[in-house]
Amino acid sequence: MKKYNYLVLMALLSLTVFSQGNTYTQGFGKFEGLAMTPPMGWNSWNTFETNIDEKLVKETADIMVSSGMAAAGYNYIVLDDGWMAKERDVNGNLVPDPVKFPSGMKSLIDYVHAKGLKFGLYNCAGVQTCAGYPGTRGYEYQDARFYASLKIDYLKYDWCNTAGINAPEAYATMSNALKTAGRPIAFSLCEWGDNKPWEWGKPIGNLWRISGDIYPCFDCEYHHEEGNWSSWGFMKIIEMRKDIRKFSGPDHWNDFDMLEVGNGMSNTEDKSHFTLWSMMASPLIAGNDFRKMSNETLAILTNKELISINQDKLGIQGFKLSAEDGLEVWVKPLSDENWAITFLNRTDQTKTINYDWKKNLIKDVDFGFEADFNKTTFKIKDLWKNKEAGTTKKNFVANIASHDVIVLKLIK
Ligand code: GLA
Repeated sequence: MKKYNYLVLMALLSLTVFSQGNTYTQGFGKFEGLAMTPPMGWNSWNTFETNIDEKLVKETADIMVSSGMAAAGYNYIVLDDGWMAKERDVNGNLVPDPVKFPSGMKSLIDYVHAKGLKFGLYNCAGVQTCAGYPGTRGYEYQDARFYASLKIDYLKYDWCNTAGINAPEAYATMSNALKTAGRPIAFSLCEWGDNKPWEWGKPIGNLWRISGDIYPCFDCEYHHEEGNWSSWGFMKIIEMRKDIRKFSGPDHWNDFDMLEVGNGMSNTEDKSHFTLWSMMASPLIAGNDFRKMSNETLAILTNKELISINQDKLGIQGFKLSAEDGLEVWVKPLSDENWAITFLNRTDQTKTINYDWKKNLIKDVDFGFEADFNKTTFKIKDLWKNKEAGTTKKNFVANIASHDVIVLKLIK
């Protein structure tokens, strides 16, 4: 009997030890394959900053579906800074703001999921977020478990209040925490490019910001006196990091920041902004108020042809081929040996293009693609006009208005 008891005790003990050993599995690295094409969605920050609540989110999700945005490919609804209460609870857990979200975050996320959409939240690697809410520093694993329990699909992770922290380590810690929590959550690094996340972000995240914040203007710098920092017009962001294209690709994208389409620029500038984000294979995260969206804004955001350039499965970021007197030519290799080519007029006057293909061969030295129009004739489609436009046998001749683009698909 004694021996029997001893055996039972040992068996129970070993089971406990065995099961303890198996309840915890440390995860490393990002969830692979969550962003094989650039993520598309909506984020609250550009229009609403911290003025967000459940009504806004529900209405935005409703319109995302009813307007055709979801059918065009937009599927993430991401709540940026300001979704939390100012303090963690007594156990150190994050608390969704009970005034802004009276029905609770979980029920809101269920609502968004029931529409066939995905849901994202924001936090920060520092002690506080940029708007002064509880940051994640020291709470990485606890917060990751909280996000997994809410069933979110995307985490944007910012870089305010991080004095003394090592960026690759801080982002790796959060990435590992998400992996350990076990729910596939796309990880969006928002480190602004300060520590070159393109050089170390690939095993850690699915996308990374490459610049400071965007501002709704063509080419301005908007200086915030308070805090001494700048937001950037979309051409400034494009110029800033156009040379890091070889670091971007399927599941590891250079993120040129949320879109400002519909946020105060002219329709022409919005069209150019959307075109360049498509050419750069940047994530397409709308940042406007869907409830007040004009038909023109919706048409730009849902242009199928441009989205197909952005979402092309080759996943290659475009580059500037030439620039002369403010008339620029940007190109992007596409699958099936096709190309996208964008003429951009940066000047204040209308310009005339007379483009001799045979004198303008394309060579992509980073990825090894080439188009020689002496050897190969391509059919041309004008993507914003959605019209055939001849072939590369003849010069392409057109007028292009100030700050406007003409986007052609060259089809082999
Ligand atoms: C930073 C980010 C923005 C936004 C705000 C929120 O500035 O770069 O995209 O998330 O913080 O406070």
